[in-house]
Amino acid sequence: MFNTIRALATGALALAALSCQVALAEEPILIKFSHVVADSTPKGQGALLFKKLVEERLEGKVKVEVYPNSTLYGDANELDALRNNEVQLLAPSLAKFDQYTKQLQVFDLPFLFDDLEAVNRFQKRAKGRQLLRSMEAHDIAGLAYWHNGMKQLSATRALHVPTDAKGLNFRIQPSAVLESQFSVIGANSQKLPFSEVFDALKSGKVQGAENPWSNIYSKKLHEVQPFISETNHGVLDYMLVSNSRFWYSIPHQVRTELEAIIDEVTYAVNKQAEADNQADRQRIIDSGRSQVISLTPEQRQAWRDAMRPVWAQFEDQIGKDVIKAAQTVNRKHRE
Ligand code: LMR
Repeated sequence: MFNTIRALATGALALAALSCQVALAEEPILIKFSHVVADSTPKGQGALLFKKLVEERLEGKVKVEVYPNSTLYGDANELDALRNNEVQLLAPSLAKFDQYTKQLQVFDLPFLFDDLEAVNRFQKRAKGRQLLRSMEAHDIAGLAYWHNGMKQLSATRALHVPTDAKGLNFRIQPSAVLESQFSVIGANSQKLPFSEVFDALKSGKVQGAENPWSNIYSKKLHEVQPFISETNHGVLDYMLVSNSRFWYSIPHQVRTELEAIIDEVTYAVNKQAEADNQADRQRIIDSGRSQVISLTPEQRQAWRDAMRPVWAQFEDQIGKDVIKAAQTVNRKHRE
């Protein structure tokens, strides 16, 4: 009698455990995608398109929640959150991986890439693809590169030549290369999270910044920066990343579908980013809040010459082979 009760109880427990497992198996995989910019920007649009396509094609299997504008995590803690699997997708700017790999600093070198098309070519070539795996030791899996655009220099003063920037304090992303880029022209810099840039510029804590048009417009930075010089001196692009333990735990078939969606979204983001930035450039001009300064070829060359010493400073950390591979993607190959 006692044995029968025990057998029944064990059976009931086993059944409960199994049905619990089934229930768990039926729960959709949750992907929280956190980022720091507005929905209207290339990255913001990419995150929303990813959510839309996943909902259409993987309904019931995967659920995506998008948190823009640093509402879930900001620059300071989003990569830690990813490594702790508190968030599953991020697309930080390439300047924000400094503490995990030095190789990605290649993207911050001033005047290395002539334009976004050159950046695109580098990202597609073997060396660029290889960099997607440069943070594996930290459980960070690089899934794709997403464009934003070329950076412009904004300030409280009109900047035509590098000496105009002397003594100003610029907000930078947490990158040693960017720190050096401003110190070689006699300017100061301060690392601040993106969410603090507007207030820091408004209060005068910093007097300048560098960003693509889409970030300037969507965060109203042009309303607190009376001058924007069209320098196109560097790129601000992203790496879509996941926690590698999480990513490779996704059942193969679902992961393959997610990767196909990522390819599609990447194509859409990268095709549209330049046009979106140009539209925001025009909106800034139309607003009349900030004067957009075009540089003459000689002035642009002066910026290039003044910032060029930064390359040599970081050559050993980044790797000569990486820099060389990046140089060859410009139409006019420059040494
Ligand atoms: C910045 O901090 O200026 C950018 O990296 C923000 C972003 O994600 O575009």
